[in-house]
Amino acid sequence: MQSQRSLPVLLASELSLPEPIDRESGQALPSDPEGGSPRARLHARSFRKVQKAAVTPYQALPIQGPLVSITHHLTPALPVVEPGSESRQDQDERVVKVIQDYQERLAERTKHHMGYPYNLDFDFSALEGLQKFSINNLGDPFIESNYGVHSREFEVGVLQWFARLWEIDQDDYWGYITNCGTEGNLHGILVGRENLPDGILYASHETHYSVFKAARMYRMDSAKVKTLKSGEMDYEHFRELVTANRARPAIVNVNCGTTVKGAVDDLDRVLAILQDCGYSEDRFYIHVDGALFGMMMPFIKKAPRVSFRKPIGSVSVSGHKFIGAPVPCGVVITRQKYVAALSNDVEYLNSRDATIMGSRNGHAPIYMWFTLTRKGYEGMRKDVERCLRNAHLLKSMLEEAGVTVMLNELSSTVVFERPKEEAFVRKWQLACEGAVAHVVVMPNIHIPMLEEFVQDLVSSRARHFTRAAMQVASAARAACSDDSDCEC
Ligand SMILES: Cc1ncc(COP(=O)(O)O)c(C=O)c1O
Repeated sequence: MQSQRSLPVLLASELSLPEPIDRESGQALPSDPEGGSPRARLHARSFRKVQKAAVTPYQALPIQGPLVSITHHLTPALPVVEPGSESRQDQDERVVKVIQDYQERLAERTKHHMGYPYNLDFDFSALEGLQKFSINNLGDPFIESNYGVHSREFEVGVLQWFARLWEIDQDDYWGYITNCGTEGNLHGILVGRENLPDGILYASHETHYSVFKAARMYRMDSAKVKTLKSGEMDYEHFRELVTANRARPAIVNVNCGTTVKGAVDDLDRVLAILQDCGYSEDRFYIHVDGALFGMMMPFIKKAPRVSFRKPIGSVSVSGHKFIGAPVPCGVVITRQKYVAALSNDVEYLNSRDATIMGSRNGHAPIYMWFTLTRKGYEGMRKDVERCLRNAHLLKSMLEEAGVTVMLNELSSTVVFERPKEEAFVRKWQLACEGAVAHVVVMPNIHIPMLEEFVQDLVSSRARHFTRAAMQVASAARAACSDDSDCEC
């Protein structure tokens, strides 16, 4: 067997700590960073703190990854004013006005949202009466705690719906309504780790950051698999990695829709590679991250099936994405036989603890139950069909407007050149990475919104290119004015 050092995986103990770098310029900070700008000093100080801290076995590892640049739009505070400083009437009027203004802003922001995979189209007014209850499903969904203000019956109903969707018998699954897709990933990977404690986590470069965060939190060895142009895993690289590390079990994150390009890793191919490389089913664990697409793929006829009839360990989705909800939420489903490894009976709860969080949002299962009951499988299928159609329409519109676009076959994530004007990016709330931005076409995005977006993008590009061209001309003029012989 190869020595651990030559393995092509990132071993937790081998990580080097980051150099202090000014995130704005991407340059290394001077050796005496106190001489730099206030912001550089701030960054330098926080990096120094990380450098000084020795990583002890129970700590999460420091973040390693390419340096990226983000725009720092700092959040203004809405101060909490002490009650005594104004009359009760003034206070009531002020608070009402603050909330009204905020509501108007939310409505306007909702109308111009295209970037993140959230379905903003829902009407839960029938559930308004529930706002007065503190609904909490603390503990295991299937074992009632002594806290009676819960919504477990809704939660279990939703879990049954997902168990049918992903084809696992009602007696064989376990799962819960999470706080978000990230929690589903943290749980799925934890279940994998607890069942295969010596496993190495494999996930592609284009995997959501929460997966490698799980590796850091659980101090797992991990390997990043290269990706193809489409954003899906490079299967030959995956084969090389699992071959080189055959001595240790494999915990594999399979993407069912990557964050930026909406790419789908081929689950069947991953399974075939593991089998080819000699991994028996008890030596691998597959977590499917279906944050967005886990809810869409089952409704697309020609899409590969995500199914527990295949040897997978868990699947997670976000509930506020395709389904839509006023609060972040999600679902994770795993096999009953796997969850025992992390379950504990807790007397204080009078329930079992196998979830990441303790208290759990009891309103979320009701939102999901309500939508799934109203729409059913057929309603969801229609939503998926319309989103794919509108995604193709947007792609064609952008191409006609001269914008370079990419759209993966099974996806509603339309990837295109990153708009140059930051104000445009902010207005449409676009998620950007490097040279690209995307629009994720969700059920709330209809043709008039696509028209407004494309018109606005065309104007923004025209403004930008006109400005750039005029800058070239004015630089030429400035050069001419220094040259008395110039006749241009
Ligand atoms: C592929 C993928 N996985 C996981 C997540 C995390 O989901 P959430 O934002 O619900 O935590 C996202 C979010 O966009 C995602 O795109």
